[in-house]
Amino acid sequence: MRSSKWLLPVRVLLTYQVLLLLLRQAKGEESHCTSVAGMVKLLDLEAQLIDNLEDYAVELEKKLQTVRRSITSLRLENDKARSSTEEYLSNPLNSFSLIRRMNRDWIIWQLYMDDPVGISQVERIQELREHMPTHTDVEEAVTALDRIQSTYGLKVPEISHGFLNGKQYNVSLTVLDTYAMGQILFDQKNYLAAASWIYQSVVLMEAFSMAAPLEISKNEVRMVYAETLLKLNQHADALKVVNIALTDNPHDIKLLLKKSEIETMIRTGTNNAPPVKVQATGVPTAYQIGCRGQFPPSADSKLYCLYNRTTSPFLILAPLKMELVGLDPYMVLYHDVLSPKEIKELQGMATPGLKRATVYQASSGRNEVVKTRTSKVAWFPDGYNPLTVRLNARISDMTGFNLYGSEMLQLMNYGLGGHYDQHYDFFNKTNSNMTAMSGDRIATVLFYLTDVEQGGATVFPNIRKAVFPQRGSVVMWYNLKDNGQIDTQTLHAACPVIVGSKWVCNKWIREREQIFSRPCLKKRM
Ligand SMILES: *[C@@H]1O[C@H](CO)[C@@H](O)[C@H](O)[C@H]1NC(C)=O
Ligand SMILES: *[C@@H]1O[C@H](CO)[C@@H](O)[C@H](O)[C@H]1NC(C)=O
Ligand SMILES: *[C@@H]1O[C@H](CO)[C@@H](O)[C@H](O)[C@H]1NC(C)=O
Ligand SMILES: *[C@@H]1O[C@H](CO)[C@@H](O)[C@H](O)[C@H]1NC(C)=O
Repeated sequence: MRSSKWLLPVRVLLTYQVLLLLLRQAKGEESHCTSVAGMVKLLDLEAQLIDNLEDYAVELEKKLQTVRRSITSLRLENDKARSSTEEYLSNPLNSFSLIRRMNRDWIIWQLYMDDPVGISQVERIQELREHMPTHTDVEEAVTALDRIQSTYGLKVPEISHGFLNGKQYNVSLTVLDTYAMGQILFDQKNYLAAASWIYQSVVLMEAFSMAAPLEISKNEVRMVYAETLLKLNQHADALKVVNIALTDNPHDIKLLLKKSEIETMIRTGTNNAPPVKVQATGVPTAYQIGCRGQFPPSADSKLYCLYNRTTSPFLILAPLKMELVGLDPYMVLYHDVLSPKEIKELQGMATPGLKRATVYQASSGRNEVVKTRTSKVAWFPDGYNPLTVRLNARISDMTGFNLYGSEMLQLMNYGLGGHYDQHYDFFNKTNSNMTAMSGDRIATVLFYLTDVEQGGATVFPNIRKAVFPQRGSVVMWYNLKDNGQIDTQTLHAACPVIVGSKWVCNKWIREREQIFSRPCLKKRM
């Protein structure tokens, strides 16, 4: 028994190290916050952890009951004896029992008390840790929330009270949340953003008390806030924060030291702060304006493409509502292309196989996971099932493209703040060998499988157009000009999702099979 107490931490430590090793190896492949579909698993996992904690409470209660019951009977016997000591002890049976109890039972009690409770529950958590988000996941989540904040110009106090982009949600962040945001942004040297979150933590700590074992000390948070202000060169403000902390803890050595350190810095004009990263000056970029839905409506937005229904038998039977978005690049929006049933089937198909999206890197000639693109994808060959066959046929009918040699259907789900930075879809054959087989990506066909409650627009900053996701609609644009040259007007981005689960399906059409026809483009109107 004694030895098990000492063995346990060693065992835990060893497993922990092995686990860390495993986690490190797994890192980069999967992350938890890049898709909403991927995060569903976390909720199930959390339910398991809560059940496990409840089992632990049951174990504790069992032991507590055993102890309390015994106390009652032990106390009864002892009280009886002490009320008439001499008479009690003069009986040999009582004396024998007392000696035996004192020699044996209390040792057993000692061992019983020493025996840890809920070992199997502790081990269970250890097992489940393998599936829990890592520090890297938390860092990514912080980056995502920070991205939402900066892209849409949101205020930290509003976010923390569930007021997102003009809409109030019945959700709020706790001090633990806001403080983690602050700490990690600080670690990432994003001091300006960190300061807002840590200040918010200070504010929240005044209003709410925290429960053990997760509480953090006010002092600690104030100290980190002062540290952040120092990084921002705001020495006088940092001193104020330390002084406030000192009124609560006048003898705290760390605070006193920090106070004198800051006072020295102010006196000598020391500036240890690194130059602050140049932050957005408050003037939003074209991309941000687009994401916020603030591009002015364009003059040609009322134009409708006259559809030649005779080109495809499909379109005679099922004419599509079609809207011209722009002419350079040629871009059209089709409405109600997918049925709810098809959407459900597509999501069901993709969910088990979703993997973090990668981006082609010309430097390495390979597809790699990058921070500028956070979503999860699954690819489906044209003949994967009747639905993919039907979908490809529909794309062909809609656009007039021959899909032979084009890429597989790509299904994608964006998660927390999921986005894709500004990019082109074409490969740019001058620096890529990806176009050798089937040519470059002449056009992009992008299906929106879901409405997105807030955010998630597809923005074309150069032509100042933004397309907001609408369940079942499709946007299609040409990436190449008539002469086959890349069209840099097609620069586009997927804005961060604020609220919602954004599902899209992509089809990149390659140019080779389209040599003899550039449907719809040449005879535009
Ligand atoms: C907000 O959520 C809390 C629980 O989280 C619930 O008790 C309350 O009724 C909700 N309020 C509204 C307006 O839905
Ligand atoms: C529609 O397409 C058919 C077949 O390509 C062609 O004969 C016809 O002239 C087109 N109609 C219009 C209005 O462009
Ligand atoms: C493309 O080039 C990279 C290196 O530049 C090479 O590793 C890769 O195999 C090439 N791919 C093809 C399809 O030729
Ligand atoms: C395309 O590649 C050429 C050659 O590497 C480069 O000069 C040009 O900037 C690229 N264009 C775009 C839009 O990336």
